Amino acid sequence: MISDPPNSPKSVLLIIGGGIAAYKTLELIRQLTKRGIRTRAILTKAAEEFVTPLSVASLTGDKVYTDLFSLTDEAEMGHIQLSRSTGLLVVAPATADLMAKMAGGHANDLATTTLLATDKPVMIAPAMNVRMWQHPATQRNLKQLQADGVTVIGPDEGDMACGEYGPGRLAEPEVIAARIADFFDKSVGNGPLAGRKILVTAGPTHEPIDPVRYIANHSSGKQGFAIAASLAKRGAEVTLVSGPSRLGTPAGVKRIDVMTAAEMLAATEGLLPLDAAIFAAAVADWRVATEATQKIKKREGELPTLSLAENPDILAAISRRAEHRPPLVIGFAAETEQIIENGRAKLAKKGCDWIVANDVSPSSGTFGGDENRVFLLKGEDVEGWPKQGKDAVAESLADRIIDYFEGASS
Ligand code: PMT
Repeated sequence: MISDPPNSPKSVLLIIGGGIAAYKTLELIRQLTKRGIRTRAILTKAAEEFVTPLSVASLTGDKVYTDLFSLTDEAEMGHIQLSRSTGLLVVAPATADLMAKMAGGHANDLATTTLLATDKPVMIAPAMNVRMWQHPATQRNLKQLQADGVTVIGPDEGDMACGEYGPGRLAEPEVIAARIADFFDKSVGNGPLAGRKILVTAGPTHEPIDPVRYIANHSSGKQGFAIAASLAKRGAEVTLVSGPSRLGTPAGVKRIDVMTAAEMLAATEGLLPLDAAIFAAAVADWRVATEATQKIKKREGELPTLSLAENPDILAAISRRAEHRPPLVIGFAAETEQIIENGRAKLAKKGCDWIVANDVSPSSGTFGGDENRVFLLKGEDVEGWPKQGKDAVAESLADRIIDYFEGASS
């Protein structure tokens, strides 16, 4: 049977993968212990070729787990218990093989089964040969893992054990330990929004015209991603529904990638019930009525006619739901003139509780830029915030959301 979970609230389940860098996890465990973080470890079969269970156990002060089918552990549903009796799962070194298995949802040994069974945040520190790291398959898996809300530390660039140079070295144990400590400091589930399920939409939508062309806008996703990050830092369980964006998923945030407004609506509705929903996405108002199945040909002297159809208004649809309407629904208003007046009109028209109105005229640089000047509209109240970084806008909005829930519960 599995021994009692470490009694420190800061505990890590370290999954050691089978790579040459596995020996560095011994130093990682030391660094974590120094920071008051307890470690329990799983060794993959391949990892046992590089470090022994005995050396790991002597540093963790706990049994080391290696076998999915160990009778004593599995009789008590060992892997489920292992994956839940910890604050965070860390995979180091995350080999190409482990990353592929995680991205594909495989579960054929104790490490992968535990990773699939967990409901806790996961961090990985990849380490592998530079060509393996740069291979499209590994990069595809990396993207998938980030989209699943996995936080990635490193890899570093430098000389490798195989004699090559480039990215693929395990991040320094001290750096990994610092990131883990930082996670516990701002831990998901520990802040004032712990237990709150919150949705954030972000980015543009792409509405296909034909297989190669689409209708879109200049949204980068920065404002929505910053909001998701701020809410997660305050303990909320955040799902980010994002249109196409190059941004990495913020730590502790679950991400659902969508392309079109219709997909964004379906993803949003699939997440109900929620405590709050924030709509920062720049959803295309129109799509073409009928998407061409083949590339539309350019013909001499002839212009194609595109007939448009209206997209669903996601914010209005959620705000006006009779069942499962989130208690707090916040929309954005992207305006190029009369920001407050137009924002107020949107607040009434869409039926949401608050509107964050921002200036998106080309001179403002809001679309794609790092700064934003917003007005928070609540009924008749208007709060004008100075032009500031999108992160700072997100922090202030998260603080207002905390105030709202504290007011609602008092
Ligand atoms: O992504 P960035 O580059 O960081 O830029 C940030 C931003 C400018 C995109 C962001 O701050 C912002 O203003 N987002 C809302 C953009 C927008 O579409 O605004 P709107 O005024 O057209 O729509 C009003 C509200 O209805 C928004 O909350 C929007 O998400 C929502 N909407 C709009 C149309 C639609 N079909 N469905 C919707 O839900």
